[in-house]
Amino acid sequence: MNFHIVTFGCQMNANDSDWLARALIERGFTPTGPEDADVVILNTCSVREKPELKVYSELGRIKRFLDERPGAFAAVGGCVAQQIGAGFFGRFPFVRLVFGTDGTAHAPRAIERLLQERDLRISLIDFTAAYPERDPALDTAPAPGAQAFVTIMQGCDNYCAYCIVPYTRGRQKSRAAAAVLAECRRLVELGARQITLLGQNVNSYGLDKHGDGTTFAELLRGVAAIDGLDRLRFTTSHPKDIADEVIAAFGELPTLCPHLHLPLQSGSDRILKAMGRRYDMARYLSIVERLRAARPDIALGTDLIVGFPGETDADFEQTLDAMRTVRFESSFSFRYSDRPGTRAARLPVKVPEEVAADRLLRLQALQDGFTSEALAHMVGRDIAVLVEGPSKKSAPNIHGRAAATGGATSWRGHDPYNHVVNVVCAASGDRTGTTVRAHVREAKKHSLLATER
Ligand code: SAH
Ligand code: SF4
Ligand code: F3S
Repeated sequence: MNFHIVTFGCQMNANDSDWLARALIERGFTPTGPEDADVVILNTCSVREKPELKVYSELGRIKRFLDERPGAFAAVGGCVAQQIGAGFFGRFPFVRLVFGTDGTAHAPRAIERLLQERDLRISLIDFTAAYPERDPALDTAPAPGAQAFVTIMQGCDNYCAYCIVPYTRGRQKSRAAAAVLAECRRLVELGARQITLLGQNVNSYGLDKHGDGTTFAELLRGVAAIDGLDRLRFTTSHPKDIADEVIAAFGELPTLCPHLHLPLQSGSDRILKAMGRRYDMARYLSIVERLRAARPDIALGTDLIVGFPGETDADFEQTLDAMRTVRFESSFSFRYSDRPGTRAARLPVKVPEEVAADRLLRLQALQDGFTSEALAHMVGRDIAVLVEGPSKKSAPNIHGRAAATGGATSWRGHDPYNHVVNVVCAASGDRTGTTVRAHVREAKKHSLLATER
């Protein structure tokens, strides 16, 4: 039997899709294109309206393939599945499985059953009481690459006014530290050189009733100590919960990369309060100051929302000011999007679309300047690049064959600050999964160009 997975949304969804693929391969399934698949799985995101709408258009697209293959069906997992549930069955009769985050562990078995019982539909959208531990299925091909993700918690308890995640991912449930450490060790044995710990709010790891008493700082130290691990990262961090020990870890743990994604959302205290973020600018700036004291070269990234209900020009100017003060190296910025069931969706005063669109453009133009500045600052420096694969442009030349340009090959990866780096290596041979010492020659708009040392 064949399967095809389409993934939307955050890294937690990407990681769930990777697990699903491994679990299906372990059961004898083969990954294929959608045209040859017996089951097409959509792992969905509903954080904003746009990704949710994409799910419906993608279902329309894959229906064509499913219609041509007798017995083939679609499965919808992730956050839109949790939100709409069995509602998919009526609207899209070729959808025969819906599963939420906590149902993912049982999805492979459900798919096997559905392939045998053609009149059946299955809905797995109940939240479980504890972290739904699943067989990591790590010993099945494909082997994890140099970079691996490990989920350390599920769900979120913060209920930020604009956010649907607590409804789609459920209450926060920390995973047992022993299970996290065991998965990390196995990944390193299998060749992973970098691990990114994942959760909606990793700084509150262990603070819920499901935790085993291990704090996030302790977990970080445990993972950092694994022999053979070169790089450790984590995402996402909520500023209100970042512990002093975690800030200090940036100066203490050599494997912890000098990069942190710390969502700010808005630079206006009034809007932060309305969002229910539970920190103000003064608190955020004090965290930044302490992070820079612990690790002076730390690269900071953030998430920003423009056009939250009631946001005035003056509020927005404060967001721009906050960006100028912190000088984020990178940011993901979004126009506020009403999500069903959230507190913000019920707020009466909405920002007109064109005003929000204009604010987003201004914010992104400001960010582009800071990003260019940060990348330009890297030119002339020596860096370590963890190679993830061939550079896109030179891909046809690689895979064992030397390029026409005298054997040089070009590889793509990240430096410790999380900059994308394309590095030209003098000799041929696959560099994927290795760390290349490189000299930065040039800064492009969103990446660096380097040559091997
Ligand atoms: N748990 C993470 C965020 C997960 S959602 C955190 O708290 O940092 C990723 C990002 O999507 C958020 O940081 C926010 O900037 C954005 N986002 C969430 N809901 C949104 C909405 N309704 N409209 C626009 N952007 C939203
Ligand atoms: Fe959403 Fe806030 Fe939870 Fe992040 S912390 S997932 S923004 S509710
Ligand atoms: Fe999207 Fe769900 Fe992740 S809403 S951002 S896939 S937690």
